[in-house]
Amino acid sequence: MKAIVNLEPGIKQLVVDESPNRCPELLSKAQRERALERSFVGLYKWYIDRSQRSRSWNADRSFPWDQFGKSHSPEMMRILEGFFAVEQFNPDYAGNITHIVRASYGRAGFQVSWGSEEMRHSDLWRNCLLASGQRSIDWLDDYVALLRGGEWTVPWDDPTRMLLYQVIQERATQLNYLNAAQIARGDHPTSTLRSDVDPVLAEVARLIAIDEAAHYNFFIEGARLLFYYKPEETAQALIDVIKFYSMPGRDLVPDYASFADALRVSEVFLVRKHYLGETLKTILDNLGVATLAALDDGIKRCRLVPDTEGRMRETTLFESLDYGKLEDSIKALAKRINAYEDDARVSCLHRTQFIPNPAIPSKREEQT
Ligand SMILES: [Fe+2]
Ligand SMILES: [Fe+2]
Repeated sequence: MKAIVNLEPGIKQLVVDESPNRCPELLSKAQRERALERSFVGLYKWYIDRSQRSRSWNADRSFPWDQFGKSHSPEMMRILEGFFAVEQFNPDYAGNITHIVRASYGRAGFQVSWGSEEMRHSDLWRNCLLASGQRSIDWLDDYVALLRGGEWTVPWDDPTRMLLYQVIQERATQLNYLNAAQIARGDHPTSTLRSDVDPVLAEVARLIAIDEAAHYNFFIEGARLLFYYKPEETAQALIDVIKFYSMPGRDLVPDYASFADALRVSEVFLVRKHYLGETLKTILDNLGVATLAALDDGIKRCRLVPDTEGRMRETTLFESLDYGKLEDSIKALAKRINAYEDDARVSCLHRTQFIPNPAIPSKREEQT
């Protein structure tokens, strides 16, 4: 069956829904892009609503800064300094990433809002440094001037790889802050930092970690959408991004090695445990990818099997991905977006639809 490109949208959807013999070619590239974009717009709007209603704290007003700990260890001070240094590059992150995704209304809109949330993280860590009594405003001004002498540039210039990069970065950052919060609460099971108990710092790290979790959630939903509608391209992009991943700011923050050392010694972030273990494992699990090796193998095999029109068969990738789980997640996302649209009474304007990728159910039938 050929792609249905010239039908009215409503009729097109009916044909997709009613077709007894779905085949991989049913959705054209343009149709996949349209389905992706509409999902991203719905996800972005759902995200903004949730953010405004449940995470509306202010970096100055929401914390008792006069009660912040005044005797933090040198290791914790180095960590706070490093957190600030990395977050304060936000004008570069927000500006440069938004530019990469500007063609997508949903993704660009999200990046602008994301930038505003990231900026308050920078503001919070800046306040922590001042409130510690161990860093002066003069020191901070000099430090920012030094840092802003460099500019963060995107590690990837295509939107798919950039999104996958952000999936990893958000999850890793969230773990950093969750572990810092544990130390500040005094309940980290193994950290050597014992004198850094500080309820204000604990609340700061906890709230930023919640923001990072929300960011992760947006990007992982986006990654699922990309995997669902563009399996081969996304699979290759994921492999590339994991292979060359490096935390943002690593080459821009002076003496980054001492920051990395402080993270390691305090057990705020251990590469083997928190990156290779928790971060990558969670991401692959959330995407329904068994192992990277299996995914890599699926891509190679998929390139060996062109279809009758010379196009590569993405369906051979299906064995390395849990498509049942992936499709269930996409459907659940559409339901969540629809619930928001109904509640916000904007369904009368537009209702986000789940558009099945016909290649995927047919393969699922083959597998069962
Ligand atoms: Fe952040
Ligand atoms: Fe974030």
